[in-house]
Amino acid sequence: MTHASKAANQPDSSPANPKALYGGTSSRRVTVRDIAAAKGRGEKWPMLTAYDAMTASVFDESGIPVLLVGDSMGNCHLGYESTVPVTMDEIALLSAAVVRGTKRALIVGDLPFGSYQEGAVQALRNATRLVKEAGVGAVKLEGGERSADQIDLLVRSGIPVMAHIGLTPQSVNAYGGYPVQGRGEEAAQQLLRDAKAVQDAGAFSVVLELVPAELAAEVTRTLHIPTVGIGAGQECDAQVLVWTDMAGMTAGRVPRFVKQYAQLREVLGDAAKSFADDVVGGLYPAEEHAFH
Ligand code: KIV
Repeated sequence: MTHASKAANQPDSSPANPKALYGGTSSRRVTVRDIAAAKGRGEKWPMLTAYDAMTASVFDESGIPVLLVGDSMGNCHLGYESTVPVTMDEIALLSAAVVRGTKRALIVGDLPFGSYQEGAVQALRNATRLVKEAGVGAVKLEGGERSADQIDLLVRSGIPVMAHIGLTPQSVNAYGGYPVQGRGEEAAQQLLRDAKAVQDAGAFSVVLELVPAELAAEVTRTLHIPTVGIGAGQECDAQVLVWTDMAGMTAGRVPRFVKQYAQLREVLGDAAKSFADDVVGGLYPAEEHAFH
């Protein structure tokens, strides 16, 4: 594992904490207790989405401690226009693949739209399916106060829950888009109430999506569970990105909060064109690729 970017930003000769979520030496699966301990140490950590075993294995080998099998698979993997059509069958299938492809990361399976809104019992039935069938270590669901009953029952039943407040993409039809949340005093107070509600219900962490940085910082200071920011500024305890955005695989424009660390779409496209050119030009297969 390399820490080149960290080394470049902050020359630090002290050895990495062996317990660190990223850069630590433990090879066993990360647990929600490890996540809680990281907040106690003031340690920041990265999370990425993953939707298949091979990509997940790359992130796992890179030391990413938490992988989310997000319902963003709708837009990024399954060709839907939003997360809304994603089904339990799809999440279960891809979560199982991500679990199989990894050894260390905590795998969080997303509960898709329609799989928990009816109430706590429906949430428990579907979350149980992800834990038993796919082998995830935790589930995620959207909503603050409105999802507190669901979180409470899951946690009391032994299923760790990552909450998700601020912009909740499953409500895209109600929002009419993907607007920044928590702007203005009333909305900010509601976000704080949502954050406290999910913590009180027993969530082990909470995603803050598209929230003003100052408000996300206040939530992070207020809660004892870690906040996982996406478009929520620098002060969150963790940061998550959709992997196809992070690696430059997504077609077209990405949201302003995304930083792209590679241009995979171009790299893959160039590889495909080189292969095609070689086939058309009779250069592939060459003698060394043939059997005799
Ligand atoms: O589905 C997803 O990928 C998510 C993240 C953006 C947090 O919910």
